[in-house]
Amino acid sequence: MATTTEAEVVTVKHTNGSAKPDISPASTKSDPQPAKATVVTGKHGTGSEKTILQSVGLMEYILESSVYPREHEQLKELRDETDKHPWKKMLSPADEGSFLQLFLRVMNAKNTMEIGVYTGYSLLATALAIPDDGKIIAMDINRDCLNVGWASIEKAGVAHKIDFREGPAMDTLDVLLKDEKYHNHFDFIFVDADKDNYINYHPKLLQLVRVGGIVAYDNTLWNGTVALSEEEMVGLPKYVRHYQPFILELNKFLAADPRIDISLVSIGDGVTLCRRLV
Ligand SMILES: C[S@@+](CC[C@H](N)C(=O)[O-])C[C@H]1O[C@@H](n2cnc3c(N)ncnc32)[C@H](O)[C@@H]1O
Repeated sequence: MATTTEAEVVTVKHTNGSAKPDISPASTKSDPQPAKATVVTGKHGTGSEKTILQSVGLMEYILESSVYPREHEQLKELRDETDKHPWKKMLSPADEGSFLQLFLRVMNAKNTMEIGVYTGYSLLATALAIPDDGKIIAMDINRDCLNVGWASIEKAGVAHKIDFREGPAMDTLDVLLKDEKYHNHFDFIFVDADKDNYINYHPKLLQLVRVGGIVAYDNTLWNGTVALSEEEMVGLPKYVRHYQPFILELNKFLAADPRIDISLVSIGDGVTLCRRLV
C-alpha cells in the first residue's frame, strides 16, 4: 500500500478536441519543489487512477468497500473492455460513476446530455440511473471509441435511451439551440470534453438546462494542478500545462456567476456541479 507524497500526475485527457489524447503519465519526483497537490495511482488500473486523496490505500478502500461490490455488471464489463484501450485513462473513475448515478436518482433526472462519451462509462452509468423513458443526448467528436462499450450498453438494455450525435459538441449545441423544444429541457448535463471550451459551452448550456437543473463540469481540479504555482507546473506534460489556465479561468468564472449555485466536489479529478437558478 503505497503513499505518494509528491505530486504524480496521471489523469489523462484529450488534446484540443482532436480526439488524439496524449496519454503519457509524468512524475515530478525529481522536482526540487514538492507540489502542494497530490494525485495518486491505484493498483486496479482503469477507474482507480484518478484521485486526489491522500493515499492509494484510501482510494482502494472506497472502491473495494462501496463502489465495486455494487457496480452494475455491464459497467464493470465496459471498464474491463476499456482497460485494453490505449487511451483508457480518459475513462471516468468508478467512484465518480456511482456518485453521478446516486445524484441523478435523487434529482429524478429524465432528460440528460453528455459532452464527451469516449467508450461510454459515464454514459452507461447515466442510462442505468434514469427511467426507462429517459433520454440522453450524447455527443462526441467521433464514434469509434464508443464501439468499445456499445455491446455492454446493449446488453444492459439501455441503448434505446441514447441519442448519439457525432461531431464537435459546439456545433451540436448550436443545432439544439435552434430548436425551441430543447430550451430549458435538460435535467442534467455532464461536460467531459474539450476543456478549453467549457467556458464557451456555459452560456449555451444555461439555455438548455432547466431552472433547477444541473450542469456538471468534470476535471475542475485538473490533475490537482489548480493548486500549483507556475514554478510547480514546470516539467509537467504539455497537455496538463496547456489546459490548467482554462480550468482556473472557468473555476473563477463559475464561482462569480450569479445565475448558478455551485459546489466543486473533490471526487475523481474534481467535478463542479452548477444548479441553474434563473
Ligand atoms: C475524457 S473523454 C470522456 C470520458 C467519458 N465521459 C467517460 O466517462 O469515460 C473525452 C471525450 O471527448 C471527446 N471530444 C474531444 N473533443 C470534443 C469535442 N470538441 N466535441 C465533442 N467531443 C469531443 C473525445 O473524443 C473523448 O472521447
